[in-house]
Amino acid sequence: MSAYLAVSGVNKSFGGLQALHDTNFEITKGKITCLVGPNGAGKTTIFNVITGFLPPDTGGVTFQGRSLDGLTRQQIVHQGIARTFQNLRLFIDLTALDNVLAAIPGQAGETPWGAIFRPFHTAAVQTRMREQAREILDHVGLADRANDYVRNLSYGEQKLLCVARVLATGAELLLLDEPASGMSAGALDNIMALMRRLQTEGKTLLVVEHNTRVVQRIADEVLFLHQGHLMAQGTADEITSDPELAKIYFGGAI
Ligand SMILES: Nc1ncnc2c1ncn2[C@@H]1O[C@H](COP(=O)(O)OP(=O)(O)O)[C@@H](O)[C@H]1O
Ligand SMILES: [Mg+2]
Repeated sequence: MSAYLAVSGVNKSFGGLQALHDTNFEITKGKITCLVGPNGAGKTTIFNVITGFLPPDTGGVTFQGRSLDGLTRQQIVHQGIARTFQNLRLFIDLTALDNVLAAIPGQAGETPWGAIFRPFHTAAVQTRMREQAREILDHVGLADRANDYVRNLSYGEQKLLCVARVLATGAELLLLDEPASGMSAGALDNIMALMRRLQTEGKTLLVVEHNTRVVQRIADEVLFLHQGHLMAQGTADEITSDPELAKIYFGGAI
């Protein structure tokens, strides 16, 4: 049986720096897999390769048995994989609702042809999309912020909005790049509860996370990346209790 998502023999260099070094791993449908490792380990680069933001030098990714080789970012989203960004990439001068709307596929404006002809952009469709966007905001706990400009949202709310945008794509595999970093304790509880809820609703999550407490609370499986190598794979307890990994992690991190 083929893996849900498989990263196989991926190498990626930037000039003389090899960010990913024969990276291999699989993730299981329905699980929350946490990707951990010191800064510069290659975690975001893995996300970039999986989601079509960067082509691998060698190796490749398969999703549900199909190769993603050569697909564009949009095509990969249509296959069912969507990601957030470490640096958020929200439209700060738009409202929360409009940020979610912009992430719903099939909109006029998504392609040049759509922008010109706007074939399905009837008032009824627009109304339905706005309802859908409101439901998604409600789902992540931002219903009362729908009409607020993103620049007026707290950092924690902006991070929840990033998850809302990923949900708006309809993807079933969600790649979240440090969704909990920089959050207050209360906001952390919100995002952890949200990730668990998404899992019970059938989503599969691959999450880059630095906070050991968060990893222990949410991870079914942990992948430890170091200098572009997958060093270890196991449960949160196995990974966090390994003294060798702790030395690499805390020796290499800030
Ligand atoms: N687009 C890029 N151009 C040049 N170097 C990059 C680029 N993206 C990442 N790197 C380098 O690759 C290494 C891995 O980066 P990254 O994947 O962002 O690490 P992580 O997310 O684990 O902190 C780092 O040394 C980083 O500086
Ligand atoms: Mg990163």
